[in-house]
Amino acid sequence: MNQATLILIKPDGLKKSLTGNILTRLSESKLEIVGAKIVRASKELAEAHYAHLKDKPFFPELIRYIQGEIHNRKKVMALVYWGEDAILKCRQLAGTTNPEEAESTSIRGAYGRITTSGLFENVVHVSANAADAEREIKLWFKPQEIIVKLYPTQEIINEQKKAIVWA
Ligand code: TYD
Repeated sequence: MNQATLILIKPDGLKKSLTGNILTRLSESKLEIVGAKIVRASKELAEAHYAHLKDKPFFPELIRYIQGEIHNRKKVMALVYWGEDAILKCRQLAGTTNPEEAESTSIRGAYGRITTSGLFENVVHVSANAADAEREIKLWFKPQEIIVKLYPTQEIINEQKKAIVWA
């Protein structure tokens, strides 16, 4: 079954110049990239993305981490991978959440670490299941930023809205 999944290369991955290595590992999946961009995550976006963890003690640090405050790299690379069993394939390549428990050949096992404060700096985010993937892709991407039609859309006319266009 064709599926979409959200991948984020987190600020530690960008700071460590791992973008190429991570994309090379993910290309083993033979999936298609249907959306890609660099994003500076707002606090609202970060908190919405990790809403399921808001009661955890590490939540404030996790938000600072994904916003790039900890690594002084205020950006993430956001990608949508699409194809057969995309979620399982990407999660296997990424490895488990805890980088010390992740297989050493996985992306998180090879490049992740646990900080002295206990935060898992695990280099990438990968959606956990189809429902999470849909929620997360809709948070990070606009419909027109993805080259396939993943989810239903609607057309609206909003003439009041200010927009920046090329001069
Ligand atoms: P979670 O959504 O549980 O895992 P995953 O990223 O594999 O879907 O957790 C989100 C992030 O929170 C995780 O990537 C790293 C961080 N985290 C910790 O720092 N400590 C923890 O004990 C857990 C569970 C997560």
